[in-house]
Amino acid sequence: MSKEQIALEIEKLRKTLREHNHRYYVLHQPVIGDQEFDQLMKQLQQLEAENPEFFDPTSPTVHVGSDISNEFEQKEHQYPMLSLDNTYNEAELLDFDKRVGKGLGGQQYSYSAELKFDGISISLIYENRQLAYAVTRGDGVKGDIVTNNVKTIRSIPLKIASATAPANFEIRGEIFMPRAVFEALNEERREAADEPFANPRNAAAGSVKLLKSAEVAKRKLDCYLYNLYTPVPISDSHYQSLQMAAGWGFKISPYSKKCDTIKDVLAYINYWDQKRDSLPFDIDGIVIKVDSLAQQSELGFTAKIPRWAISYKFKAEQVTTELLSVSYQVGRTGAITPVANLKPVQLSGSTVRRASLHNADQIQLLDLHEHDIVCIEKGGEIIPKVTGVEKHSRASDAKPVVFISRCPECNAQLVREEGEAKHFCPNADSCPPQIKGKIEHFISRKAMNIETLGEGRIDTLYEKGIIKNVADLYYIKYGQIIGLEKTYNAEDGSKPRIVRFQDKTVNNILQNIEASKQTPFERVLFALGIRHIGQTAARKLAQHFKNIDAIKNSTIEQLTAVDDIGEVMAQSVLAWFSVPNNAIIVERLREAGVQMQIKEDTNKVVSEKLKGKSIVVSGSFSSPQRRKELEQMVIANGGKLVDSVTSKTSFIVAGENMGPSKLQKAKELNIDVIDEKTFLNFLEY
Ligand code: IVH
Repeated sequence: MSKEQIALEIEKLRKTLREHNHRYYVLHQPVIGDQEFDQLMKQLQQLEAENPEFFDPTSPTVHVGSDISNEFEQKEHQYPMLSLDNTYNEAELLDFDKRVGKGLGGQQYSYSAELKFDGISISLIYENRQLAYAVTRGDGVKGDIVTNNVKTIRSIPLKIASATAPANFEIRGEIFMPRAVFEALNEERREAADEPFANPRNAAAGSVKLLKSAEVAKRKLDCYLYNLYTPVPISDSHYQSLQMAAGWGFKISPYSKKCDTIKDVLAYINYWDQKRDSLPFDIDGIVIKVDSLAQQSELGFTAKIPRWAISYKFKAEQVTTELLSVSYQVGRTGAITPVANLKPVQLSGSTVRRASLHNADQIQLLDLHEHDIVCIEKGGEIIPKVTGVEKHSRASDAKPVVFISRCPECNAQLVREEGEAKHFCPNADSCPPQIKGKIEHFISRKAMNIETLGEGRIDTLYEKGIIKNVADLYYIKYGQIIGLEKTYNAEDGSKPRIVRFQDKTVNNILQNIEASKQTPFERVLFALGIRHIGQTAARKLAQHFKNIDAIKNSTIEQLTAVDDIGEVMAQSVLAWFSVPNNAIIVERLREAGVQMQIKEDTNKVVSEKLKGKSIVVSGSFSSPQRRKELEQMVIANGGKLVDSVTSKTSFIVAGENMGPSKLQKAKELNIDVIDEKTFLNFLEY
């Protein structure tokens, strides 16, 4: 293809991908499948990588983000980013309507009633119909420039195709994380023993400020735009202007409603107060805006807020009850979570007995005292939380709740590392809930999938001294567990639960354990429960290092060189392998037949990236095995492996101490000599 043809092809692909993005992320009407989309995206990525002169900051490939660290600069807002007056009741809303009516001196007016998205506000500045800046609200006057991160949000157009749009304009809206994305992210974080986000809002706020936009891209954020600022108004109606912006490709809320009277607004509020759970994202209220832009400027602003808009906040469901005690749970990583035990109380249709207190700071912040009357709230989270204390009803001699200093399960001195919100029990090897938690994680479905061993059975086997770590599972004998029995009394006084090990169960368990020996290495690595190493990280490590010994013997630099593995993860891996007991566990698992290396189909062709190319692999690499792997990669990607350098050689992958004659020949024939990293980058390994 000539350069002109390549340029045309790139433009064609960009246009097609923009259209599909808009159809998928804004209109929710995709016309092609994910796989087809990904293939087009890959094609474009490859063409752009091979022809960097055609770089375009608005290309759909930019949505994928980059690994370059963003240090945020700040930018002043052209119009201050104000907040809104809040109200929680109808009477105040009627007062607002009266003030508006009075302010407009008897003119007719209407409202735009909109959902109040619970995320973080963003200002998007378009110059020459291209996204030039994305700025956070900051202090209202100036905010952080987070353009690279925001460019990863696929519903935000990077380039406006419509000629009806002004060349330069600003549009503001709310970046949020859809609930399903939030649930999946937290599930992943829990599996990696990372602290889950408290709610989708926090997750969205944290994601927008991440330092690597490639990480932001994975967070699957979304954005509804709700205010447009053009040099010349395109319509006097705010509602109408947004409809026009929808035509330029922006995601505009389909839930907004033009209301002629405040009565219509109240009906809208009531409707969404009932129905908000059915939305795929969180809202925390309704925003009511006078619709006419002329009337908006007539009403103007106070020092802090517009007089033409107000937000009606939904009341979070709350109750008060007595704090009976505080107990402390120990997780599988040793993280301590304080839990409030409460006098049972009804809240949104269920009886609440316990509520989360998160960590020591939270207890201090609440200034919690024994037997306080506490306020319980059910937010987006499933477990209710303590949000306040009624200090006036506290006894004068009430004692403050003091966070424990020793582990409630094993009495070890707790530690709190710098930057960590939680206290930890460091006694990983002999603290019972940590041991049981690790075994439960090991047998879980996404790990070794030994489903017949549920939580109760693990507990019994541990209590009876049959298993003390995950390796012990593989040495269980039929005779040891047949007939075991343990009764668990329920906390709420309901029927006790009896865990029995009968013939059929025992056989199933043993078969399940045996079958788990075939679990692929990447899942074994995840199952080991190394802190911060979730499924994805485990897969990346397994694919890169191929076997457990290579991981164990790696350095921080080698670990962080792997895609997606950061410093914290790398440290955690090395820390895990440095514990002598963990090394013993790995050896016993290996002896039992558990997979400690990836199974590779050496003849499988995975791509045609090297089709028609003759490649020499020469010199020494980190190990002889590594050299073999590189050679296999040549073949797996459709290339031809050759021994000697000739004029037909396409390039040389060189390790250290490549033979001088080969090097000389390469120079003479002008053949590229590349290192391992460049080669892997090219193959996108
Ligand atoms: S209009 C001057 N509309 O709520 C008008 N805001 O306290 C400014 N928000 O910071 C905002 N949904 O982040 C507007 N449909 C909506 C909104 C909305 C959510 C947020 C926004 C703002 C806060 C107001």
